[in-house]
Amino acid sequence: MDKFLLLLLLLGVFPLVIFRAQATVCMVCNLFKRGYCLTGKGNCTMKQGPGCRTRNFFIFTERDGWLYNHTELDCSHYCTATHMYYLSLKISTYCCKGQDFCNRDQGKIVK
Ligand SMILES: *[C@@H]1O[C@H](CO)[C@@H](O)[C@H](O)[C@H]1NC(C)=O
Ligand SMILES: *[C@@H]1O[C@H](CO)[C@@H](O)[C@H](O)[C@H]1NC(C)=O
Repeated sequence: MDKFLLLLLLLGVFPLVIFRAQATVCMVCNLFKRGYCLTGKGNCTMKQGPGCRTRNFFIFTERDGWLYNHTELDCSHYCTATHMYYLSLKISTYCCKGQDFCNRDQGKIVK
């Protein structure tokens, strides 16, 4: 009987532990530049999947081509690494998980 109770307890507790271990705290920022958050700083938590998102914004100019403008950090349930072009705007998206605030590091890449 004791073993049975112990088993029940383990079954109940282990999924919780694993569930918690997978959660990643991501940085949220509306305007991130050179490693600093200028506006809209916060955090969000992703419980599963590569949901910490980094979006680097580039603007096209006739003279200099694609120039880095700023970075936005948040959580996304459907995060996929992409390079999207909207006329003279380019948005490069990166996703990460497993390390708290991992999306902050990709925002440091200036190019
Ligand atoms: C996330 O933000 C809240 C306030 O919005 C703060 O209390 C908490 O400490 C932050 N979590 C981490 C891990 O920084
Ligand atoms: C470029 O960055 C500035 C802040 O330095 C921001 O106000 C502006 O909205 C950004 N432009 C685009 C197209 O995202």
